[in-house]
Amino acid sequence: MTLRALELFSGLGGWRYALGELGSVVAAYDISPAANAAYELNHGERPHARELATLPAECLKAHGTDTWLLSPPCQPFCRMGNRQGLADPRCKAFLRLMAIFEEAPPKQLVLENVEGFLGSDAHALLIATLDRHGLHTQEYRLCPTQFGLPNQRPRVFVLASKRRLPHDPPPGLKPGPLAPFLDSEEDASLYLGAAVLARHKPGLDLVRSQDHRTACFIGGYGQRYVGSGSFLVTERGIRRFSTREVARLLGLPEAFRFPENTPQEKRYKLLGNGLSIPVARWVVQQLEG
Ligand SMILES: C[S@@+](CC[C@H](N)C(=O)[O-])C[C@H]1O[C@@H](n2cnc3c(N)ncnc32)[C@H](O)[C@@H]1O
Repeated sequence: MTLRALELFSGLGGWRYALGELGSVVAAYDISPAANAAYELNHGERPHARELATLPAECLKAHGTDTWLLSPPCQPFCRMGNRQGLADPRCKAFLRLMAIFEEAPPKQLVLENVEGFLGSDAHALLIATLDRHGLHTQEYRLCPTQFGLPNQRPRVFVLASKRRLPHDPPPGLKPGPLAPFLDSEEDASLYLGAAVLARHKPGLDLVRSQDHRTACFIGGYGQRYVGSGSFLVTERGIRRFSTREVARLLGLPEAFRFPENTPQEKRYKLLGNGLSIPVARWVVQQLEG
């Protein structure tokens, strides 16, 4: 089976990396110019820069796809967000997609989100919609640490298919040390100064190169300290992880890069929104049975 996929809320194109030779992304959609520029640089095609909340159904229908791969904004369901669910304006695009689904349901769908999505009104709407159209569903709570990566990023995946889906356990690999994920040449500007350390050090999640874990890197990692991701302790001091190191911990290919004019904070933001590629790949493989 070769999937013909729509990548919705495409960001850096994590689903496209995950899909690999299992299929092709026929079209991608994202409103962010920075995400779309990075997507184009790495995947050779520019996503449609469209607001999904007002997208006419015909636009999606015209692509003739069988699979939707989507990662809607997670803030309405985040521990640190307001948890308004569907009442949050950032859910308008998801609501629109559910309406388009009614008109033109794909044969398969995979949705990724934060754990708070489970049990939300958006989750209930999704499951009811999938059921009504006779799709079988399967749900997974997965973390890259189960896939051998030293990075915590717990996420929920909802899979749906016209065919019955397996419920395989994830690989259950043990994460190795951080050392192989670190840059061979450090960027000195990543080190935290004395004033920042005096203020924030007690709350920082500190790790060393021999440790086997990092905390989840969130979009605000480039500007924030406490609760935004891990900081590395070296002989020289305490530093942020570089964007390349975060990309490696997400399982993005070594060839992945940002357009040169993408500001550092934006890079962290895009990565913080991104997918763990080995986890997403395993999930897509489940569609194959
Ligand atoms: C959680 S991120 C998805 C990240 C993506 N899976 C990846 O691999 O990088 C959500 C994305 O949805 C986009 N987005 C949010 N609201 C949107 C809307 N209303 N219409 C189109 N894109 C939207 C954001 O720009 C962001 O890139």
